[in-house]
Amino acid sequence: MRKASKEKKRALITGASSGIGAAFARHLARDGYDVVLVARSRERLDDLAGELQAQHGVAAEALPADLTDPPELHIVEEMLADGVGLDLLVNNAGFGTGGAFRELEVNQEESEIRLNVVALVRLTRAALPSMVARNSGAIINVSSLAGFQAAPFNATYGATKAFVNSFTESLAEELRGSAVKVQMLCPGFTRTEFQERASLDVSGVPSFAWMSAEAVVDASLTALQRGDLVCIPGMQNKMVATLTSLLPRSLTRRVSGMLTRSVVKLEG
Ligand SMILES: NC(=O)c1ccc[n+]([C@@H]2O[C@H](COP(=O)([O-])OP(=O)(O)OC[C@H]3O[C@@H](n4cnc5c(N)ncnc54)[C@H](OP(=O)(O)O)[C@@H]3O)[C@@H](O)[C@H]2O)c1
Repeated sequence: MRKASKEKKRALITGASSGIGAAFARHLARDGYDVVLVARSRERLDDLAGELQAQHGVAAEALPADLTDPPELHIVEEMLADGVGLDLLVNNAGFGTGGAFRELEVNQEESEIRLNVVALVRLTRAALPSMVARNSGAIINVSSLAGFQAAPFNATYGATKAFVNSFTESLAEELRGSAVKVQMLCPGFTRTEFQERASLDVSGVPSFAWMSAEAVVDASLTALQRGDLVCIPGMQNKMVATLTSLLPRSLTRRVSGMLTRSVVKLEG
């Protein structure tokens, strides 16, 4: 990956075609970053790249890739690993599946692990060595409040996010003494395409529980400047996370199961 100029910072954002990823791309371009936009939808990435170039005068490159497909993931890894200054990697692409695990389509469950876990691990592994060598750069791994507890009826999803939390926390410790930063970003309900893609009926979720993708990204980038490892955006989500950490797991998984049962489509 070549830098457009020495002063310019450069970020690569996965899942940049909608939701939180698109909000990261817009925020970072406004801050003057050149951006590389990764997702499957070429047309949406091209449109966003054009918008960012026109509005902010930055270099914006669309890199269409299905990150669950090993050869396509490999192309993005190679781009990251070529050793030339990426300042920020945002591992944001992800999706969820809802329902009783025994009834869910197993290939879709595997894809969820490939995207939410395998792609995130491989891209982190590709980007980190040059960041450490330069002693600068940052990686934001987009997790979820769902990663702090068992997630009945979102079992695979919750497990992928628990992985992201543990993985990112471990890396932070490995990077102690380095200027390279890692962050686990743990949003709650955020207005994006996520719920529709996961076939969740969230019509009963009260409005105070929701955040915009832009507010989530503002919180993340502010926390990154402070060097925070964990970013839980929004007071309502901080309260949920605090309660979750205080209550017994037997209770949090029961409550989580009851709440999620009401938003997923269960068979039979
Ligand atoms: N929204 C929430 O309430 C919420 C809460 C907690 C955590 N999160 C997390 O936030 C992250 C972003 O989700 P979002 O809410 O912004 O949802 P979203 O609007 O559905 O965005 C998901 C992004 O991931 C991309 N993507 C999906 N499959 C992909 C694949 N196989 N290869 C490459 N890119 C792929 C999508 O683009 P294409 O379809 O074009 O590939 C899209 O850009 C996810 O990791 C999610 O788990 C969301």
